[in-house]
Amino acid sequence: MGRLEGKVAIITGAAQGQGEAEAKLFSHEGANVVVADILDKEGNTVVSEINSSGGQALFTHLDVSRTEDWEKAVEATLSKFGQLDILVNNAAIWLGEGKAGEMSEEEWDKMFAINAKGPFLGTKAALPAMLERGSGSIINIASVSGLHGSKGGATAYGAAKAALTNFTRSTAGQYADKGIRANVIHPGPVNTEMLRGGVEEDRRTAIGENLPLGRLGLPIDIAYGVLYLASEESSWVTGSELRIDGGLYI
Ligand SMILES: NC(=O)c1ccc[n+]([C@@H]2O[C@H](COP(=O)([O-])OP(=O)(O)OC[C@H]3O[C@@H](n4cnc5c(N)ncnc54)[C@H](O)[C@@H]3O)[C@@H](O)[C@H]2O)c1
Repeated sequence: MGRLEGKVAIITGAAQGQGEAEAKLFSHEGANVVVADILDKEGNTVVSEINSSGGQALFTHLDVSRTEDWEKAVEATLSKFGQLDILVNNAAIWLGEGKAGEMSEEEWDKMFAINAKGPFLGTKAALPAMLERGSGSIINIASVSGLHGSKGGATAYGAAKAALTNFTRSTAGQYADKGIRANVIHPGPVNTEMLRGGVEEDRRTAIGENLPLGRLGLPIDIAYGVLYLASEESSWVTGSELRIDGGLYI
């Protein structure tokens, strides 16, 4: 406990799944946490659970693709907790879109607005507070889907995650001398609503069993990696990529 003592974190998409696990783990490790999501009811429940177990959390309604929402989220963070040390760009959507010739322009634009532009807007909104403190850690959640092509199902999703990975490297290079780090995590298949919504149960089970480590990921598996990159233990780590995927590429 205490690996994030005195730190303040914004975690997007923290109303459920991996973001929820990260918010709870961060609080357990001493951080004050801003739970940011479009799901107000679920997000407020996460906040109540953290606060009733002795932590300090705040919910803010945030659509990551909207600049105005980001401005309000950072304002709310600073007014409640006085500083911002960690940004986890975790929120994303999965559309299960078809092949390049089949998917619509609207699907492509929506995917990029949320999965690629969202983390850019978040980074831009968080930077002034981090620059003022001379420190910060930004963790972007991409995907193994961004590391290879797709035969169908992740055409724009993979492209947006690959864009996010490259954006992470630029952020890392541009702000390292200001004490701000940026790293990216590539989760493999994790048993959350995102996977449950797009993949039948039998297939999910088979995917897990076929991984070298024999099971699907759990939200906490990713959260431990995010915690490392958020904490001072990774103070010499920037522009790096961490695959947490059950051994997918062995
Ligand atoms: N589950 C997987 O198999 C898997 C694999 C690789 C990468 N990922 C990535 O992990 C991250 C977390 O996903 P998850 O598995 O917890 O999925 P999830 O669907 O359970 O959670 C995603 C969260 O993002 C929120 N969200 C969606 N659109 C938003 C928007 N416009 N603004 C703010 N919040 C928004 C949702 O409300 C939800 O709370 C995502 O970046 C996802 O792409 C997931």
